[in-house]
Amino acid sequence: MSITFSPEALALQAKAREIAEKYVRPKAAESDRERAYNHEAMKACGQAGLLASWIPKEYGGSGVGVLSLCMIVEELAKADSGFGVAFAVNALGSFPLLVGGTEEQKKRFLPRVAKGEALISFCLSEKFAGSDAGGMKVRAIEDGDGYRIYGEKKWNTGGPVSDLYTVFAVTDPESKSRRISAFMVEKGTEGLEIHKVEPSMGIRGVPVSETHFKGAWVPKENLLGGKPGHGFKHAMATLDLARPGVAGQAVGAAQGALDYATAYACRRQQFGQPISGFQMVQQLLADMATQTEAARWLVYRAASLADARDPAVTKISAMCKCFATDTAMKVATDAVQIFGGYGFMEDYPIAKFFRDAKILQIYEGTNQIQRMVIARNLIKEALGLTHLEEYIPTETQVDYLPETNPA
Ligand code: CAA
Repeated sequence: MSITFSPEALALQAKAREIAEKYVRPKAAESDRERAYNHEAMKACGQAGLLASWIPKEYGGSGVGVLSLCMIVEELAKADSGFGVAFAVNALGSFPLLVGGTEEQKKRFLPRVAKGEALISFCLSEKFAGSDAGGMKVRAIEDGDGYRIYGEKKWNTGGPVSDLYTVFAVTDPESKSRRISAFMVEKGTEGLEIHKVEPSMGIRGVPVSETHFKGAWVPKENLLGGKPGHGFKHAMATLDLARPGVAGQAVGAAQGALDYATAYACRRQQFGQPISGFQMVQQLLADMATQTEAARWLVYRAASLADARDPAVTKISAMCKCFATDTAMKVATDAVQIFGGYGFMEDYPIAKFFRDAKILQIYEGTNQIQRMVIARNLIKEALGLTHLEEYIPTETQVDYLPETNPA
């Protein structure tokens, strides 16, 4: 399959780079220190059409696709990984509409996201349902022409600044495969409350909250797809499309750390020469660059499969999320090493890259879950490899025990 960089995608990437240097990088340290959301940069993204990139034209977007989303997120995350996810959660929150919404729902909600009028987030995880997303407890109970939602969602990234929430809740506790449904919930709905804003280790510029539902009523028109019971599949299909975006954030974070480390290695003098002249530093830089480049191309491949809605996307999407985020953590760690004692100090930009990298290996499915998804899909594919059987010898063993026990 081919990976095509359309002129529209390249133009949006250039715009993202411009916004990153003008609005994101200069505010990265302050946003981290003050735990302040960069509204100015997000507004600029909206005005430049970046939030429209993954939304089809018929729903007010530009229809450039997931590949374009990844290229944009990479540019933003290079300057500030936290801003990268502040942007990417809007894709995560709106993909359920794309994969499962009715025409009316897509037309009602997506243009607002595309224009940057509404920020959207994704409420799946709960205190006792993280990796086991299907084990959620938040309930939605039919009430008149709608549903009332009860319970608490956890780790709602971007929750406190959202205008729209995609919320997954149990509608049929007795069912095995049709337990869960998804709902669109608007900010201001009575009973929707933002609670504890998490004191996170990194990505501090984007608020992550507990979002509580105390009998929040939503009309049936907001039940995704119009029929209950499809929420878990919508969540899984959403994650297939969204994981390349997180992986794009990881590539940006890795590239950003590498760029700082390379610039610093060229400047920092020890033993009478820049440390970039030492082979051990060069080895670190060479590996960091190679791993980042490899991750980038895996992201592009997964994003292209996502755009083609190719069924192979589940496995490759998990691969790119896992590989790119492990790479970001390793590259950020090595970048701190290159900065040495200064790398450990908060007045240098690299400590933030290190703190920001860790969450990448955890959210949108831990890297242990990604490996499980990859292996499950490999095993499923192996069932189609029966023709290899004849090349794999089958061992036999003869049992020499006497027929009757002499003792
Ligand atoms: N697409 C469509 N359907 C899928 C699917 C996919 N990729 N994967 C599974 N399904 C379907 C299965 O076919 C199955 O359907 P049937 O019941 O009809 O057979 C159903 O879903 C259940 O599938 P599994 O038996 O595989 O489900 P499971 O309970 O074993 O769990 C899992 C699978 C992969 C572990 C899943 O729970 C998972 O992805 N967990 C991680 C959760 C996660 O990523 N959370 C991230 C939260 S978002 C976030 O972090 C964002 C942020 O803050 C920025």
